[in-house]
Amino acid sequence: MCYTSNRTYGLAGELTGKKSVACVIDTNLTITITYVYIFICSTFQIDFWNPETITQVKPEMRVDFRVEADKSSDVESLLEQSGVEYEILIDNLKTVLDAQFDSNVRATGHNYEKYNNWETIAAWTADIAAQNANLVSRTEIGTTFQGRPIYLLKVGKSGSNKKAIFMDCGFHAREWISPAFCQWFVKEAVSTYGSDTLMTRLLNNLDFYILPVLNIDGYVYTWTNYRMWRKTRSTNSGSSCIGTDPNRNFNAGWCSAGASKRPCDDTYCGSAPESEKETKALADFIRKNLSTIKAYLTIHSYSQMLLFPYSYTYSVPENYAELNTISTAAVQELASLYGTKYTFGSGASTIYLAAGGSDDWAYDQGIKYSFTFELRDTGRYGFALPESQIKPTCEETLKAVKYIANYVLDHL
Ligand code: ARG
Ligand code: ZN
Repeated sequence: MCYTSNRTYGLAGELTGKKSVACVIDTNLTITITYVYIFICSTFQIDFWNPETITQVKPEMRVDFRVEADKSSDVESLLEQSGVEYEILIDNLKTVLDAQFDSNVRATGHNYEKYNNWETIAAWTADIAAQNANLVSRTEIGTTFQGRPIYLLKVGKSGSNKKAIFMDCGFHAREWISPAFCQWFVKEAVSTYGSDTLMTRLLNNLDFYILPVLNIDGYVYTWTNYRMWRKTRSTNSGSSCIGTDPNRNFNAGWCSAGASKRPCDDTYCGSAPESEKETKALADFIRKNLSTIKAYLTIHSYSQMLLFPYSYTYSVPENYAELNTISTAAVQELASLYGTKYTFGSGASTIYLAAGGSDDWAYDQGIKYSFTFELRDTGRYGFALPESQIKPTCEETLKAVKYIANYVLDHL
């Protein structure tokens, strides 16, 4: 049932003053019903939340999308006429977005249990390195389209010939819980080194490269203009539409499936692989450090999934069985804290074919432990996850990440 919401979007930007509906459709899809979505999609402006585009809708799939409030009754009657079961998940998105921030009185300064804006995160990267010089150092791996420095933190006890785990956050601008997790991870590393046995072992024997926000321009835009922005903010020649989907922009079956060639779409693959300064900077860094990087982790939201290659093909990777075994244990670790259930599997078979992702690219570079996390939740709040969930989400995710890192360390 799709639920229609009657809300005025309170942020500045494209949605200002328009009513919006967040709508989740839970349905037994048949192919006919897919046509309903296509019809709705071509008739109304739809913001797909999960999957990201109409092309990724498959039979039996649950689909989350947002429509503007003044369109919601039309969309609902269309769904009803077509026999699609639907549910209104968020009746008033503005209320939920306001509630993301548990308090309207925002203290300035960095806080691990709040969503921090880019300025605050940037200052935090300098501070955490300065205050923990024995464990953390900061470098810049490039600049964004709009010229912001892309910071990378190296976390680990100094040592010789150490192998490393690379983890990035903030590919997709609206997935705010992702950067929150990278910050949380670094905090946990510096505050539990020496007391937590596993963390101590990991940091003594491995380095973690943590990229707190890759798509900084997009992240800034979600704070200042439009909360639901996903892509980068680069211009596209021949189009007035902005941005490329960074997770469709890697050279891994680039733009062959589950990606769009149209600059206006949310899954636009870009003009070429690594056309974006951000993805190019990331890929350059990984290529340069291929001999040390043994695992690649990329943090997204939402849907509570642990995905591994491939997503650009239904073929399975050579160590598929091993990746499955690791995932089984990792999601079990994750669930041990609060019972949060994750599904897992190869990207293509678990969600959809989607080429050009960084996980598949890293894997094909030879990094055999490559995972995409899709953090909380499963759609109740979606991208508008309340701040009260930052702590539990990060705690449980940390369990899984530590498990994977320890496995990698045991199998160097
Ligand atoms: N929701 C993520 C995305 O669409 C899933 C990424 C899975 N990996 C992939 N290579 N498609 O970007
Ligand atoms: Zn994402």
